[in-house]
Amino acid sequence: MRTLVIIPTYNERENIGPIVGRLRASVPEADVLIVDDGSPDGTGELADALAATDGNVFVLHRTAKEGLGAAYREGIRWALDAGYDAVVEMDADGSHQPEQLPRLLDAVRGHDAADPTAGADLVLGSRWVPGGSVVNWPASRRLISRGGSTYSRLMLGVPIRDITGGYRVFTAEALRRIRFEQTESQGYCFQIDMARRAYEAGLAVAEVPITFVERERGSSKMSSGIVVEAMARVTLWGITGLPHRFRHREPVQVVSEPAQGA
Ligand code: GDD
Ligand code: MN
Repeated sequence: MRTLVIIPTYNERENIGPIVGRLRASVPEADVLIVDDGSPDGTGELADALAATDGNVFVLHRTAKEGLGAAYREGIRWALDAGYDAVVEMDADGSHQPEQLPRLLDAVRGHDAADPTAGADLVLGSRWVPGGSVVNWPASRRLISRGGSTYSRLMLGVPIRDITGGYRVFTAEALRRIRFEQTESQGYCFQIDMARRAYEAGLAVAEVPITFVERERGSSKMSSGIVVEAMARVTLWGITGLPHRFRHREPVQVVSEPAQGA
């Protein structure tokens, strides 16, 4: 399986080197694509330097900060054009631990060469399933994240516990099926949009517990505008989706942590 990890960056100068290093050590078979939105702090130049020394690292430079959604749309188009079989989404700031990526990849369809039909089309790293957790988040961030997932679950009828999370694996086939290019979300709402599309398309979705560690360097790009966009879009999708709400759908699989000592 050819795998590409897409890392969107905006002002992640202190984080990009360490995260790429950890990723290349944890999952050496995966390629890396950094999608930088013209970071004023020089993240893009640092990314170019990483790519110059490692043939498995690539960089896309965008001219303006247009949001996580736009950066991922461009990165995913690049991945599909390049023929990758699986695409990983991962933050640059260390919150998504590369050491946990093998567990996510284990759950994706196509990973098991002996049984290529086994696995999920979309694997979500989940903070809000048993075994998942968040380290160093203030109560306000926990509330926004849990509240956002609960509101989305109720409005959209999608039984995903962590629908806003940004650590995930898609098969290339799933990305094509959900017509990712038609998403319009600018901010982190893109993640909700992608997950609901996968679920509504009848794809197999799995949640794998992760430990999300709040960044130690740099600052979050989360803003009230991002929350407002998500609230507005989820509300609209909920209302326009009501007529289709009650058709049969598959439950989302929760992949539990291996028991201690197992
Ligand atoms: N290219 C680009 N353009 N990258 C961006 C932009 C943008 O406009 N905005 C943010 N990023 C990058 C950051 O540089 C980082 O690598 C990643 O996207 C996540 O941004 P953070 O600012 O660190 O997000 P967070 O930690 O507050 O948000 C977490 O929660 C969100 C809501 O649950 C993450 O888990 C997100 O993935 C998640 O959607
Ligand atoms: Mn972060």
